[in-house]
Amino acid sequence: MTERPSIAFAKFAAPKKGSVAVLVPEGATLEDTGKVYDPGDVLPRACRTSGFSGKLGKTLDILAPAGAEFDQLIVAGVGPTDKLDEQAWLRIGGAVAGAVRNATEITLALSVNGAEVKAEDAANVALGILLRSYSFDKYKTRKENGNGEDKPSSGKPVKYTIHCADPAAAKRAFATAEAVAGGVFLARDVVNEPANILGPVEFAERARDLEKLGVKVDILTEKELKKLGMGALLGVAQGSARPPRVAVMQWNGGKSKQKPVAFVGKGVVFDTGGISIKPAAGMEDMKGDMGGAAAVLGVMHALAARKAKTNAVGIIGLVENMPDGNAQRPGDIVTSMSGQTIEVLNTDAEGRLVLADLLWYCNQEFKPQFMVNLATLTGAIIVALGNAHAGMFSNNDELAARLTAAGTATAEKVWRMPLGPEYDKLIDSKNADMKNIGGRNAGAITAAQFLQRFVDGTPWAHLDVAGTAMGSPSSEINQSWASGFGVRLLDRLVVDNYEG
Ligand code: BES
Ligand code: MN
Ligand code: ZN
Repeated sequence: MTERPSIAFAKFAAPKKGSVAVLVPEGATLEDTGKVYDPGDVLPRACRTSGFSGKLGKTLDILAPAGAEFDQLIVAGVGPTDKLDEQAWLRIGGAVAGAVRNATEITLALSVNGAEVKAEDAANVALGILLRSYSFDKYKTRKENGNGEDKPSSGKPVKYTIHCADPAAAKRAFATAEAVAGGVFLARDVVNEPANILGPVEFAERARDLEKLGVKVDILTEKELKKLGMGALLGVAQGSARPPRVAVMQWNGGKSKQKPVAFVGKGVVFDTGGISIKPAAGMEDMKGDMGGAAAVLGVMHALAARKAKTNAVGIIGLVENMPDGNAQRPGDIVTSMSGQTIEVLNTDAEGRLVLADLLWYCNQEFKPQFMVNLATLTGAIIVALGNAHAGMFSNNDELAARLTAAGTATAEKVWRMPLGPEYDKLIDSKNADMKNIGGRNAGAITAAQFLQRFVDGTPWAHLDVAGTAMGSPSSEINQSWASGFGVRLLDRLVVDNYEG
């Protein structure tokens, strides 16, 4: 990714150089707005001419305004002032960062109609700037500025100074947000990374890196997975020349007797479909079939980096689904760690096979308060919900309600889908305890029913993030293919319910 901008907070003072950003509410008269920083009547004239009306997320970019000492005036719309919630502040930050071109010094004045913005909101603006500044350009030998133009490297990181009412408090609030942003970037990075670079072993090393933050990391190798009896996971892995790994990450920031919260992720570094091979068109997207594992990695980073007062375990199953002389075949029957047997009728329904063993292992080994698993599990969930919500399936109303609330707060939204015996029986098999596909209908639900057979009654939620982890439409706070979906959601779930 690109170098991260530095973000500082300060009291209001008229800036003399660089870029200056001011906020304009929807329908503002423009009399108060940016008075301190605006050279004469540039602002009202420019707004009139361009039709800029202060809509949230929109910006107006005025370059080298006559009579001003600074180089650029960015006018950022904030929408109606009575709707300025957490999400609005994030988007404002993102929109400002998106309007900055080659500037390396940006001053952002956080006042709305003359009223100063409070510290928590200022920190959210800063988080929006940070999240927007991400771009996956490590393999571009020529850098671009996002407008298709070459970006001459100044060698200096971009520096933002945010003018606000209480800079010290904003700085404190931002320190926490920055830790979470680090987790989001990590998740985006591994999803964007191509599969030739990031195999199971390399992904496990990314987990190992969390040791630097005080996370306990254990990497289980193929031999250990065999010993544990993870026949479902190993069946998927056996078609790949690259051996599987399971990474177990533990953050113990809570009381020693507190049962951990558990996050489990599907980490298929590439999903060809195996012998039930996928069509060629769009198959490249399957480098992102580890978006669930990425979110788990990212949230473990976030919890450790902000020293969360909670005990958490993150478990990710890292495999590659390939067709090969040694690959599993449709019709094969595997024995999962739970002892339940599975008839593999479609080798492309591999994510559930990986998760079956991970969920069982997690429950046995850690006796968690709850398990939330994340997986790019089905195309069917994209048909149902598109890119705007992850599908949520749960056996526990309280956990489901808490996830829904965390999703609303972070705009990483989840939508609850049904489970039930009518769906469960669709995966009964003639030849084994169950089969790994349920037929054409209700594909996202039968996948969830499959997972539920491995949670043994523990409070559990499955988030199908196939439509949200990657390829979702770009937004003010993300322009990259990988969104990092799930990191802010799970961090918020912990903050609001499982800390202290
Ligand atoms: N990784 C895919 C699901 C997926 C599809 C994720 C599109 C992201 C975008 C999963 O392993 C898969 O192939 N699922 C099959 C299941 C089917 C064979 C029952 C699917 O959804 O088609
Ligand atoms: Mn598949
Ligand atoms: Zn898959």
